[in-house]
Amino acid sequence: MIKPISSDLPTPQFDIRAPGRVNLLGEHVDYNDGIVLPAAIDRYVHLQASQNADDVVELTALDLGQKTSFPLENLKAENLPDWARYPAGVAWAAMQRGLKVSGIRAVFTSTVPIGAGLSSSAAVEVAFGALWNELNGWGMSRLELARLCQQAENQFVGVNCGLMDQFASACGVEGHALMFDTRSLEYEPVPLPPGSALVIADSGVRRSLAGSVYNQRRADCEEAVRILRNFLPGIGSLRDVGVEDFNQLAHHLPEQVRLHARHVVEEIDRVQKAVEWLKQGNGKAFGQLMYEGHASLRDLYQVSIPELDILVEIASRLPGCFGARLTGAGFGGCTVNLVEEEAAQTFVQGLAQEYTSRTGKRAEIYICHASEGVSLQKGQ
Ligand code: GLA
Repeated sequence: MIKPISSDLPTPQFDIRAPGRVNLLGEHVDYNDGIVLPAAIDRYVHLQASQNADDVVELTALDLGQKTSFPLENLKAENLPDWARYPAGVAWAAMQRGLKVSGIRAVFTSTVPIGAGLSSSAAVEVAFGALWNELNGWGMSRLELARLCQQAENQFVGVNCGLMDQFASACGVEGHALMFDTRSLEYEPVPLPPGSALVIADSGVRRSLAGSVYNQRRADCEEAVRILRNFLPGIGSLRDVGVEDFNQLAHHLPEQVRLHARHVVEEIDRVQKAVEWLKQGNGKAFGQLMYEGHASLRDLYQVSIPELDILVEIASRLPGCFGARLTGAGFGGCTVNLVEEEAAQTFVQGLAQEYTSRTGKRAEIYICHASEGVSLQKGQ
């Protein structure tokens, strides 16, 4: 028996949990064919649903105290509240592929904070994707499901994101980060360094304008490729541009495009080195690259904010911290910290106190665990 989360749906047919994620390294490279290192975390979207008799989707977002319903025919994002665009987008993307999508009554709640860079929207998409995959017998693998959800976000919601977030929520492996090559779509779980803990520090600052700035950054990367192709014919993306080639050719790029593209080229290189350290279990060397990654997001890609810089700076002085950086798209949200397990509790307290005394703001800081990807349970 499934224990219902809302009296709106006392006997749900399906119960689904889809996790949020942190990214350890490889930021803003997933739409440049790079390698990323996310981990699913123990914060979830929890969805319960039953099939409806007609082709209508009835949704309740328990945390927001909001309901909406819409027919599956003729779906348009602008007719829906923001939060309903993610489930609707998944249905839309599936129907684009000619897949059957049934009407449902669904209720959901989430422990993934919204707009904090921990992929709350991907978790919603993956939860609904997993539901319809089961209900309508699509037979999709987890990776295919992630791609469908990415299409929903790109084409229905209008954020031109890469595949990392949906991938992590769908394919997470307990205790592991996932080394995910966004070009070949191959992935390998890599254990976190022995004796280390993952600490998330939420600056409390929520993203604003993230969608549009994000899309602009992506457009800059594409422009860099267009220009560099004059000198390096045959490149498909910034993944194909080595650091040395970039150094020689960078002066051909307009200033902002140059800074942004430099971040991507160097970050792709950094992840390749970092993966080796991770495989050797060397938290210290890996952490050093996290700090470098943060500096690059701050100075070159320009997606950090003072609160995130302060969190990283404080963390770097606390005992037992291997590395710290902003995680996710930036513009607010969280840092991820790799910390010696034994020092983790003291680290959490020290970081919280100093952050408040420096900024007057309160950070929510917690130790998190790398977790399984989406899971589904059927009722009787
Ligand atoms: C957001 C996007 C991801 C990725 C990150 C930055 O989370 O959804 O695809 O691009 O930003 O690394």
